[in-house]
Amino acid sequence: MTLVPRSLLWRTVLLLALLLVAGHFAWLQLFRVSEREPRALQVAQQIASVVNLTRSALITADPAKRIDLLRDLAQQEGVQIYIAEPNEPVEPLPDRPFVRMITAELQRRLGADTRLLGTRDGMRGVWVSFRIDDEEFWVRLPRERLERAEQLRWIGWGVLVLALSVVGAFLIVARINRPLRELTRAAEMIGRGRTPSPVSESGPSEIRTLARAFNQMAADLKRIDEDRALLLAGVSHDLRTPLARIRLGVEMLEPQADATLREGLVQDIEDIDAVINQFLDFARVTNETSIASELDLNELVNAVLERYQHQGKPVSAQLGSVPRLQLKALAIQRLLTNLVDNALRHGSAEAQIVTGQSGGRAFVEVLDRGPGIPVEEAERMLQPFTRLDAARGGAGTGLGLAIVDRIARLHGGTVALTPREGGGLRARVEFPMMQAKD
Ligand SMILES: Nc1ncnc2c1ncn2[C@@H]1O[C@H](COP(=O)(O)OP(=O)(O)OP(=O)(O)O)[C@@H](O)[C@H]1O
Ligand SMILES: [Mg+2]
Repeated sequence: MTLVPRSLLWRTVLLLALLLVAGHFAWLQLFRVSEREPRALQVAQQIASVVNLTRSALITADPAKRIDLLRDLAQQEGVQIYIAEPNEPVEPLPDRPFVRMITAELQRRLGADTRLLGTRDGMRGVWVSFRIDDEEFWVRLPRERLERAEQLRWIGWGVLVLALSVVGAFLIVARINRPLRELTRAAEMIGRGRTPSPVSESGPSEIRTLARAFNQMAADLKRIDEDRALLLAGVSHDLRTPLARIRLGVEMLEPQADATLREGLVQDIEDIDAVINQFLDFARVTNETSIASELDLNELVNAVLERYQHQGKPVSAQLGSVPRLQLKALAIQRLLTNLVDNALRHGSAEAQIVTGQSGGRAFVEVLDRGPGIPVEEAERMLQPFTRLDAARGGAGTGLGLAIVDRIARLHGGTVALTPREGGGLRARVEFPMMQAKD
């Protein structure tokens, strides 16, 4: 698993967030460095004042009152005075640029022999030495004089600003992403051979150009589809008449002519005729304009079933209850015929038609016990001129399922080709029950 998000939205948000964090830290660092010196000088000045005042007070105070003075300083200002002793255990303050600046400034103000310590005699604080005559003293100030509690507050504010910026980045990117999502959805529809409704041509100029180009492409594809159907219809129509003449001619051949040759020719002519019919059907559903009327799906199934049984084909039916639907009778019969033909030709020698309703939709299924269609190929088989065994030749045009799909869509329905439990294919067409009138 990779930690990089896959969608453009989250990638951009992540990148922006990283950029903001980096920028924020750079800014914080800059701020810290630039305010360090003035702050060091200020702190040094305060400490120097405390030391100078204490020193003057000690020098000028009445010796009898010195003890009281020291106690007052300790209680009211947190300032404690000690007399330095030789070899006392001491530790310096941490060696930071800030501390070095303060030390330098204190030595400048109080004399070069001024010392600054972190711990003396096991007591933490800020220890500053000063002299009265030859005697050395320590002033102990609370450590807070050096640290700044506000620093933590700065970090808190920084985190808040950062969180707000990330939320802002998300909103901006989501806004840019919305038209892209719409485009993706439409492109996916085209990939599945559907015609999407035009995407809205608004927003920033790049997105608008992209949307316009996309709509143009979708319209072109639709036109190419229609042109192809028109071409097929024209050619097929023109082939029909000469084909009928050839058939007539073959049938009128001398009876003594080779009977097998004649039968072969008639079979070929029938195959060609079937292909032409399929072409014409395809062209017809692409430009279908007939009016739908309220019909009983089961009645249409029965009509088709009768025709097959009349020809002695092993087709059976199991009809469930289906409400009357808005249907185009001829188109639905064509749909059923194509599915049953497939079951008989590509599937087993037997086909079963099932009708019924489930989940608020009416359905008709054609089932067989043949080799079926691999799940990953099912969607592709609904495209025109696609066949599983195209490499091996074979009689079909590859239009049958494309016609089924188009007829289903004309009725607001869907086609699903799924494996049948126990082997074979389940071709299922679902129709919405509340069909709007054309
Ligand atoms: N019931 C089925 N069992 C197995 N494979 C099937 C079945 N129905 C269709 N197929 C496969 O799907 C392909 C496409 O079917 P489609 O009906 O579109 O074309 P066709 O049957 O080859 O030609 P046409 O129907 O135009 O004469 C077929 O060539 C076949 O490989
Ligand atoms: Mg077919």
